[in-house]
Amino acid sequence: MKILIVGSGNMGRGIATRAIAGKHSVTLHDEDGGKVQALAKELGVSVAADIRDAVSSSDVVIMAAPYEGNVAIARALGPVLGGKIVVEISNPLNDTYSDLVTAPGTSAAETIQAMLPKSAKLVKAFNTTFAGTLVAGQVAGQALDVFIAGDDDAAKATVAEFVAAGGLTPIDVGALHRARQLEAMALLGITLQFRLNTGFGTAWRLVKPTA
Ligand SMILES: NC(=O)c1ccc[n+]([C@@H]2O[C@H](COP(=O)([O-])OP(=O)(O)OC[C@H]3O[C@@H](n4cnc5c(N)ncnc54)[C@H](OP(=O)(O)O)[C@@H]3O)[C@@H](O)[C@H]2O)c1
Repeated sequence: MKILIVGSGNMGRGIATRAIAGKHSVTLHDEDGGKVQALAKELGVSVAADIRDAVSSSDVVIMAAPYEGNVAIARALGPVLGGKIVVEISNPLNDTYSDLVTAPGTSAAETIQAMLPKSAKLVKAFNTTFAGTLVAGQVAGQALDVFIAGDDDAAKATVAEFVAAGGLTPIDVGALHRARQLEAMALLGITLQFRLNTGFGTAWRLVKPTA
């Protein structure tokens, strides 16, 4: 699969690392040219020469900027994202990380979906996995669960395949409006890092009964 990651910060690094482990082709883009060049060189992947061309030739586009950045990306790239699988990973935190800035009854993912062409297939994923744990691919020897929400089953299946290839466990949680719970879950996870002093090193895991 051809994966385009827009945003080459902590999560860009983490998701790119898992994509490389899954033998996918990775292209990076960032508004910070120096940062993206350095990360691409370190990971041995390419940098998008032209972002619109890179979107056109990608199977999956991952929005890996802060929420406001993902809104800006949606605004700038909107028309070219038609028909594409777009993964939105943000947690719309306030400045003190004490709450979400989105209104009750909606989510960052739904807000961004509303900005895209109707044919874009928006999938929420990776918002509950901390960046460092994605680089490591595990916590305490256990694979990470990646919760996936979206309204297009085929798009979710493609994202699940991408997630599984990188050694992670995909869990389809249902329609895109489930992003409301995933974003709240991530806020709780962030809150716990400070309460438990776990340094953003934990992971959410669904423990299932044995068959
Ligand atoms: N860090 C985590 O553990 C974690 C876990 C789950 C979800 N998330 C979510 O993942 C997203 C990224 O987090 P992060 O920790 O990777 O942030 P980060 O390290 O700050 O990286 C974000 C990158 O996106 C770039 N960017 C901002 N606006 C952009 C735009 N319009 N176009 C292209 N690039 C843009 C930033 O460039 P500049 O530096 O120039 O602004 C920066 O390089 C956030 O939405 C966050 O809520 C993070």
